Formats: sequence, C-alpha cells, structure tokens
Amino acid sequence: MRITDIIEKKIKKQELTKQEIEYFVTGYTNGEIKEYQVAALLMAIFLNGMNHQETTNLTIAMANSGKILDLSTLGEIIVDKHSTGGVGDKVSLILLPLVSSLGVPVAKMSGRGLGFTGGTVDKLESIPGYQTQIEINQFIKNVEKIGISMISQTLDLAPADKKLYALRDSISCVESIPLIASSIMSKKIASGAQKIVLDVTVGKGAFMKDIEQATQLSKTMIEIGKLANRQTICIITNMNEPLGYAIGNSLEVIEAVKFLKGDMPQDLKQVVLELGSYMLKLAKKGEDIEKNKIRLLENLENKKAYHKFLELVENQGGDIRYLTDLKKMPKASYIEPIYSKKNGYIQQIDSKKIGELVGILGAKREKKEDSIDAKVGIVLNQKVTNQVKIGDVLAYIHANDEEKLKEVKIKLEEEIKISEQKLEKEKTILGVITK
Ligand code: URA
Repeated sequence: MRITDIIEKKIKKQELTKQEIEYFVTGYTNGEIKEYQVAALLMAIFLNGMNHQETTNLTIAMANSGKILDLSTLGEIIVDKHSTGGVGDKVSLILLPLVSSLGVPVAKMSGRGLGFTGGTVDKLESIPGYQTQIEINQFIKNVEKIGISMISQTLDLAPADKKLYALRDSISCVESIPLIASSIMSKKIASGAQKIVLDVTVGKGAFMKDIEQATQLSKTMIEIGKLANRQTICIITNMNEPLGYAIGNSLEVIEAVKFLKGDMPQDLKQVVLELGSYMLKLAKKGEDIEKNKIRLLENLENKKAYHKFLELVENQGGDIRYLTDLKKMPKASYIEPIYSKKNGYIQQIDSKKIGELVGILGAKREKKEDSIDAKVGIVLNQKVTNQVKIGDVLAYIHANDEEKLKEVKIKLEEEIKISEQKLEKEKTILGVITK
C-alpha cells in the first residue's frame, strides 16, 4: 500500500477502504508516514468528505491507535462530556465538578485550543501548578479518590487524534464533519466513557454554521457511539456570541470560579444545566430532566460544586490560593476598556471574530509547537440585546503587547455592532438529539 495512492483516491473523491484508513492512521502515529503527506490527505478529506462507513472506520482506527481504557473498575457508569468547540466555552470547568459533586464519576480528557476556539487544557494550565499531563494510572487513581480528574490527551490514548488534531489546526482543516466526528468519538471511546453527552455548538463561533450541519454531525456521532456501544446524546447550543463574558484562558478560569460561587451569566447557566441534566440521566442519577436541573442548581448554591473544583485543582498540583482569592490570578500588563460611541442596543458580537482577536493578543497557536499567553483576552461587558448609551463600557481588552492592544482595540470597536432597534434574544439551547 502507498500513501500517495490513498491521497490520490481521496482527491478523486473515491471511498477509502478500512485497510487504507488503518494504514494511514497507523503509519502517521508511528512516524512512518510523513506529516506533509497526511496534511495533503486531510485537505482532500476536508474538501471531498467521507461517507458514514469511512468516518466510522477512521474513528475506530484512531481509537485503536493507543490504549482503550477500561474504567469499569470504578464501579459506576462513567459519563463523559465533550464540546465541538466554541468561544468563551468554559462549560467543562464548571459542569464537570458540578456533576462530580452529585456522585457522577468524571474521567475527562480534554483538548487544547483549535482554530479560533479555546481548549479546556489551555485553561486548566493557566492555574499555577495544575498538571494536565499525568500517567493514566494516576488519572484513574484520582477519579477513585475524589471522583474527578481532568487531563490533557496523553500519548497513550488516541495518539493519532493528538497528532491529527494539531496538524488540522495548523493547515486550516478543522471544519469538517468526518474529521470532527472521528476526533471526538475516538477520544471518547479510548478514554473509557460508557455514555457520552456532546455539546454540539452552532453559529458564528462554531465549526457548524447552521442547524442542518449540527444535526448531521450529531447523528454521525450518535451512530458511531451505537457501533461502539456508547450511548451518545447531543445538545445543540447557540455559539453566535461568546458564551458568558470572558474569552481567554485565565480570564475564563476566573469566570468559571465566579460562576461556581454564584455569579452565573444566563447563557452559560443554561448550557451547564442542560448538559448536566442529561449527564445525570445517563448516569442513572435522575430520570427527570427538569428535576435534575434543580439538583444541579442546589449544588451550585450550596457551593459543593465550587469545593469540588478546588479539590480537583489541588489534587492535580494546582495552587488553589489563586482561586480562593481571584485577585491573585496572574494578570496581563494592560487592561483597557472600550466604550460605546452610540446609543442603542447590542446587535451582534460575532464570536468567531472575537476568538480571532483573542488569538491576535496571543491566546492561540499559529503553529502547533507555539506557546500561548494565558493572561490575555477580552472580557465583554455586554451581551447581545443589552441597551447601551454613549460612553458605556462595551468590553475590556487584556493585553501584554502595546501594538497588539492597539490593533485589537480598533477591530473590537468595529466588531461590537449596535443597532437603533430593540432586538429579540436568540435561544441558547437549540435542540436535543438522542438518535
Ligand atoms: N473537538 C475535538 O476534540 N475535535 C475536533 O475536531 C473539534 C472539537
């Protein structure tokens, strides 16, 4: 078999066989197939797609590229959560300690930022001391000990995805249903979850731009889940404007901690409660979705979820003094407000554009080996539909470089659109797909 023939087949829009897919996934994982060849193949898949069978075969080959964890020793139903990516998406930081505080074991392997979206691992690493790269045995021990562990993708689990994910990011091949479905489901299968709740984001700051695409991606992942005997539920959520107010790694940690202490932006709250209710349901901790939401809220109000988050951070080497006193969190050198120049109503805050601006400030990678600046980002002071007057603060830019600050300031002022008419709020939860 030759990789050049496989690339050529996909360029000609032909179906790849199971053996061809296994050949390229194994060859790339063990370094026998060159990165530029895989980049060419990914681009061909990105442009010409894959059918259902190919996507399933790709997922299974990626899951089998490393160990498949068996978490049955934990004795309870392991329910995992994953998002297809968003801007300001700090849901995992809040939701996972929350469900853990209600007795659902959480063994979560997260990703780094991809394209214009952020990644939970980059956010966790902005907490001084937090170790995202730990041995698998330790990962399981942590879940046994405190009911939760959140780590980055280790080389042992779905290593093919780790390499493909970073490569896709560096060649602008992220927004593809077969590549996203196989990336997410291979990780979930390898990390041992028996049941999976997926946050399928849709809109400007998501990889899926409309409900039809989001539904297609959801159905693809649910089907893969069925074949792998992993019950999967997809919640479709709105990502037209950033979720919550903060965008940027340590800024999102700060917002997550404030949320856990009771300061909950509406949109973020809805996503956390919806996903959490389905996680409880799949874990057999409560059949009724509305009642589950009430139980989740109780554990936010009584601070059990907040204390679980502190326990998680401490158990993974993080210094919780930064969280119990948020003023201690490392800050950017410049924190600059931007002001409204009009009276009216906030019409649009395009989350993709905001994600890109946060990238310019240094929170994202250009090349996969780049490091990022955890302290920079944007904290919005408004949500779409808010009424504003001339001189009101629209947002704060957190920057470490004066030139970048200037550039982002001009662009951000253009990106926060204000209309004279009052607008209707869009829904946050757009659908639930179970089959
Ligand atoms: N999240 C993933 O893990 N993979 C993708 O491809 C997109 C979002």
